[in-house]
Amino acid sequence: MTTTDSLPIYPGDILSEKYEVLRLLGGGWEGQVYHVRELSTGIERACKFFYPVRDPKNRLLVWYAKKLHKLRHCSIVIQYQTQEKTVIEEREYTYLVSEYVDGILLKEFLRRQPGHRLTAFQALHLLHALASGIETIHHLREYHGDLHADNIIVLRSGLRFSLKLVDMYRWSTPRQENIQDDVCDLIRIFYDAVGGKRFYAKQPEAIKEICCGLRRSLILGKFRTAGHLREFLEIIELEPLA
Ligand SMILES: Nc1ncnc2c1ncn2[C@@H]1O[C@H](COP(=O)(O)OP(=O)(O)O)[C@@H](O)[C@H]1O
Ligand SMILES: [Mg+2]
Repeated sequence: MTTTDSLPIYPGDILSEKYEVLRLLGGGWEGQVYHVRELSTGIERACKFFYPVRDPKNRLLVWYAKKLHKLRHCSIVIQYQTQEKTVIEEREYTYLVSEYVDGILLKEFLRRQPGHRLTAFQALHLLHALASGIETIHHLREYHGDLHADNIIVLRSGLRFSLKLVDMYRWSTPRQENIQDDVCDLIRIFYDAVGGKRFYAKQPEAIKEICCGLRRSLILGKFRTAGHLREFLEIIELEPLA
């Protein structure tokens, strides 16, 4: 296959004599992810296939597996299990098996909210959960690299959000700039969660203090890492939200 057309994998297919395909979970630029059940245990997993045209030598797959392994103690990141090979229509594919996350994408979660947005207080909780989780990644001098509402799965909300991140992007060996990009992406997610441009002018001061009008230099002047952002959220003056 030389294109990014859908891979010929369907519910009921058996992969590597080990996994039954349940459904397609989603896909994007680099590949497709399937929800599967391990035949021997009944345990559900996610299998990520990279389009051969995107990853002809499995370099992306190996990089992603190693990165997930390095971040295995970061509870916000999905857990890597193993890699497997399977032959489909006479072509061999290598795929990555990870934990399956039974939740909904942040994008869909926001879509389901009244007015498609969160209240300022809910959004602060969301941002706090994201910043605390990503802080553990930045502590390891690592970065996510592709933070947006399609790569964040919401497992539970309420007073506290429980979140998982999928799909990291390889920009370079970790640099300060990659960590800064994560911080700016976090603020952007928060900005969108409270309603984006349309509602920004009327947001409480506390929200504007965090978003900094989305100006990168201002954001990074305040928050060098996700940890700094988390600390800021824990002492922010919330009175204007009342
Ligand atoms: N471990 C997982 N558990 C549940 N759903 C997942 C998992 N990994 C990915 N997904 C779903 O599949 C979609 C595509 O996966 P992703 O890794 O983001 O691939 P792409 O690089 O093609 O964007 C995600 O947006 C999410 O909906
Ligand atoms: Mg993705």
